[in-house]
Amino acid sequence: MDRSTVRPHRMNPSGGCPHADNARLRARGSVVPVVLPGEIEGMAVLGHEALKAFLGHPDVAKGARHFTLLREGAIPEGWPLRTFATVQSMTTADGADHRRLRSLVSRAFTSRRVAELRPRVEELTEALLDELARAATAGGGVADLRRHFALPLPMGVISELLGVDVAHRDRLHALSTQVVTTDIGSQQAVSANREFAAVLGEIVAAKAERPGDDLTTALLAARDDDGDRLSAQELIGTLLLLIVAGHETTLNLITNAVRALCAHPDQLAHVRGQQVGWGDVVEETLRWDAPVSYFPFRYPVRDVTVDGTVVPKGTPILAGYSAAGRDPAAYGPDADRFDVTRPGRPGAVRHLSLGQGAHYCLGAPLARLEAETALRRLFDRFPKLELAVPEGELPRHSGFVGNSVDTLPVRLSSDAP
Ligand code: HEM
Repeated sequence: MDRSTVRPHRMNPSGGCPHADNARLRARGSVVPVVLPGEIEGMAVLGHEALKAFLGHPDVAKGARHFTLLREGAIPEGWPLRTFATVQSMTTADGADHRRLRSLVSRAFTSRRVAELRPRVEELTEALLDELARAATAGGGVADLRRHFALPLPMGVISELLGVDVAHRDRLHALSTQVVTTDIGSQQAVSANREFAAVLGEIVAAKAERPGDDLTTALLAARDDDGDRLSAQELIGTLLLLIVAGHETTLNLITNAVRALCAHPDQLAHVRGQQVGWGDVVEETLRWDAPVSYFPFRYPVRDVTVDGTVVPKGTPILAGYSAAGRDPAAYGPDADRFDVTRPGRPGAVRHLSLGQGAHYCLGAPLARLEAETALRRLFDRFPKLELAVPEGELPRHSGFVGNSVDTLPVRLSSDAP
């Protein structure tokens, strides 16, 4: 195909199921030009091998100063993707700054520390399953699993780690959704960001009055420690990142796994028959229906060539995780098939859906613990669980960064009305 004649793909701000577009785009090449909201030109990396190479490329950075249009003042304050580029935290930092910001919280998320959280995650899961059962009774047998289970579990865990009061959680979730959606007006984007920072400021001020045994208190101590370990803006940016990344993602993963298993009872039977474990379901869902679809941004610090395509210096690049997860060049001709036996096969290709390299997901062990616990307990407790709406009719979650549906109405038992 002559790529010069192909018009850049216009990213749909309201999102939708990404897989059909992804297949069309991958046919154009593993790196393609895209138009971002506001007519901003960017590119997306879609092929598995190309994405792996790009994420580890020494001439690719995450710092906002490398985003040419932003540096030139051409990106308005209310641009829906602006927070991804400018939030002051490890996700927009490189080199020594990145190591400094990540090391302030990384110890709380190691596999060993996360394993210690298991009893609490189990306890929260049981309480939420009771809540889900109550919601189904109140709803004539149908309950929204996303709202009553997939959301409050990761939100509860990250809030407890950060010491965030229950009273703030609904607002923080609503604000998180607004700052990550690509389908938002500029006024609304500006006010969501301001309110998010204000609520976090209140939480920090309350912690300064009454310190606790939590990460916010630890970050406050780092900020007050002569100021060179963490600035005031970095403290707010780090809290914002941990709250958003700590729940919007796992929420999508649990939701997508339940949808996939309900739509593929033969795959659920493999878990029930113990041919595979819940960990395999989690890994296959991450690959097949990546919770983070397109992650903004990286910028080449000089023109770089990825799989034969030149990616110009300073261009905002999306990491196309949902596209890479179904790349037939990596996963074979049946890459579109949800197959829970795939991750355990000898020589299985590891998905990239939790990232790769220096910015590999900090919360990966926590996400896996939460999702495995949630799925195991949910299907043990409600073995007849089924979707109450056909899978294709579920309303999609808006935006092209996250990938999921907005509600997941389920029937917990086929005996229910
Ligand atoms: C299924 C759940 C999750 C998925 C799919 C996911 C996915 C990702 C991906 C793809 C990245 C790399 C982004 C990039 O630079 O391209 C990332 C980074 C990150 N994730 Fe997760 N994540 C999940 C859960 C969590 C949780 C529970 C936390 C809680 C702390 C978390 C915290 C972070 C942080 C702080 C980063 C930035 C790391 C850095 O820049 O060094 N994530 N995640």
